[in-house]
Amino acid sequence: MTQHENYTLIGPFTQILTMANLPESGPITDDELEVLEDGGIVICDGKIRLVGKYNILLKVAQEEHYKIEKITEPKVLLPGLIDAHTHICFAGSRANDYAMRVAGKTYLEIARNGGGILDSVRKTREATVIELVDLLKKRCDRHLSEGVTTCEVKSGYGLTVEEELKMLEAIKLVNTHHKIDLVPTCLAAHMRPPEYSDSKLYLQHVLENLLPQIKEQGLANRVDIFIEDTAFNEADSLEYLMAAKEMGFDITVHADQFSTDGSSVAAEAGAISADHLEASGEEEIALLKEAGVVATVLPGASVGLGMHYAPARKMLDGGLCVAIATDWNPGSAPMGDLLMQAALIGASEKLTIAETLAAVTTRAAKALNIKDRGCLGKEQVADMIAFDTGNYKEILYFQGKLKPTIVWKRGERV
Ligand code: NIG
Ligand code: FE
Repeated sequence: MTQHENYTLIGPFTQILTMANLPESGPITDDELEVLEDGGIVICDGKIRLVGKYNILLKVAQEEHYKIEKITEPKVLLPGLIDAHTHICFAGSRANDYAMRVAGKTYLEIARNGGGILDSVRKTREATVIELVDLLKKRCDRHLSEGVTTCEVKSGYGLTVEEELKMLEAIKLVNTHHKIDLVPTCLAAHMRPPEYSDSKLYLQHVLENLLPQIKEQGLANRVDIFIEDTAFNEADSLEYLMAAKEMGFDITVHADQFSTDGSSVAAEAGAISADHLEASGEEEIALLKEAGVVATVLPGASVGLGMHYAPARKMLDGGLCVAIATDWNPGSAPMGDLLMQAALIGASEKLTIAETLAAVTTRAAKALNIKDRGCLGKEQVADMIAFDTGNYKEILYFQGKLKPTIVWKRGERV
């Protein structure tokens, strides 16, 4: 055996879409996609070592005694998908909200009457850590089998120090034991909990008593807030986010879902991403662009609430880096199918295939401020998915029904 016994050559693939060397923001044409025909990929210790023509790599592999994982059917290889915005740590169902919404009540009306997010808060508080772990694990199983190899997960259904820590501990436990990589985010500022009558006091309480513990225990590096009539106002949110940033957290914001209050706060706070943005217009797009904030659009919430998509085309044309995420949650977005939702918003908003695929890979990595994944290049984590087709254009064409048949997480088949 040589020094390369841990190397594995995987291939041949009809096409490898590396998603590398694309513009970091703004429009992308399909011609800009790096499509490697008859390609192979060499991995070692969970990382990508080489990407190139299969025949050339095969010679090297034989000389150097690499293992060879042969692919027989036509396959297109892509980087593993990244879901940059979810709320999948929750207990209970909100099917009753759904019934009320389709019978005419709005999401905000239901929230104002104590339903909505607070209903999930009640049910999540009643669950034990073990119950939450079990529920979260099942959702991660499904995501991973559908090609999502990295997934952000928010707290935000606890809304007390103890209950938010319980959620983040459940996320940490699943992250330790599940193959998927989870990126935890503290969303204690999802809504004002019923125990508090003053939002500002609640945020102060979170800053003083929760965020330091999260830092100390390494439970999350990101802080999120929901800026909306029924949640937190602009002034309180900005103050909260600046203090969280001062403590070393990355900032992300639920912005412009119904009103246009959030994006200016995201820009001013130097957020990594502003998410939702269904209500954003030219002014908001310009603000986000100026501040270098990634725009993460959430088509699953538009489908769930029966409302229009965020203006992703205008955002790209305005120079923004656009990511697409599921927002998977029990209320507004129970579907949780990233590929399908990307295909749906892509078709409606006229996004090129390159723009849509970048939005769930390399640009989604940017939304999470992580640099070691999202494209198939040297030293990137070997998270990869293969589809039963020889033509990458078929992936979105089938509107999410063509799922990957092979998923590799850190180089291992799952
Ligand atoms: O991103 N908009 C606020 N929060 C979530 C919904 C959470 C819920 O309804 O439970 C969202 O859509
Ligand atoms: Fe959300």
